[in-house]
Amino acid sequence: MQIIHTISEIRQQVVTYRQKGKSIGFVPTMGNLHQGHLELVKMALSKTDIVICSIFVNPLQFSEGEDFEQYPRTLDRDTEKLKQTGCHIVFAPAVDEMYPQSTVDGRDQSQIIVPDISDIYEGASRPGHFTGVATIVAKLFNMVQPDTAVFGSKDYQQLQVIKRFVQDLCFPVEIISHPIVRETNGLAMSSRNSYLSSAQKQQAAAIYETLNNIEGQIHNGIKDYSALQRWAEEHLNHLGFRIDYVVICDADLNKPEMQSKQLVILAAAYLGNTRLIDNLQITI
Ligand code: PAF
Repeated sequence: MQIIHTISEIRQQVVTYRQKGKSIGFVPTMGNLHQGHLELVKMALSKTDIVICSIFVNPLQFSEGEDFEQYPRTLDRDTEKLKQTGCHIVFAPAVDEMYPQSTVDGRDQSQIIVPDISDIYEGASRPGHFTGVATIVAKLFNMVQPDTAVFGSKDYQQLQVIKRFVQDLCFPVEIISHPIVRETNGLAMSSRNSYLSSAQKQQAAAIYETLNNIEGQIHNGIKDYSALQRWAEEHLNHLGFRIDYVVICDADLNKPEMQSKQLVILAAAYLGNTRLIDNLQITI
């Protein structure tokens, strides 16, 4: 497995593989890899000849006061895991490589704004977050030129933002989503789970239990989604979470119509200082 830090080198490698007729799969990450990430790599390996995984903690998608500084950087451990999984190339650029000539982490450079869906739910709580995500993913796509890119669906809204700009801006990349990978107690795997104590990891499983409870109630015919959202927020509050939102929407993140068949329940809540997100996609 190769470890590459510069744009010129990754471009050169991609050209070499392309000349040999190889297809390129891509898994963008911010590192601190867990089994969920490795499943994305395995999925990419099952679909393309060569798999590139990027590791870059992107300052542009963090707002002031968020955890950019403390976000775990575990490159040696990550590269070992990727090697064991069969990944071909790790692309781990420095901030200066990704945002050259910028003294403010790319905030003074061109950015990709995906209107409307970037401003709701996660986007409302984290202004500018999805612009940072869309911008870095677009830059990475231009560097890696993948045929296929695989993303986890824990970040359901992120996935919609990426699909939207890829379509709007005609990027020739197939976007594939992988189902959420969970711990045995149901907690969605996340790099930020490493901020939780073991007691909190047990407690955090309540988010998924609550999403499942809502799903059960919807399958039992309950259509008052506002009441279900209120119940879930109160329930999680009572269990010690500080709720950001629990919302039931259609698959495109719009308010569901009575006839909507594909729904997604999105939740974001703090446990201590750790912000957790989860979702459950349901068909009725
Ligand atoms: O989901 C993530 O880890 C990040 O948002 C991504 C897609 C790697 C962009 O920095």
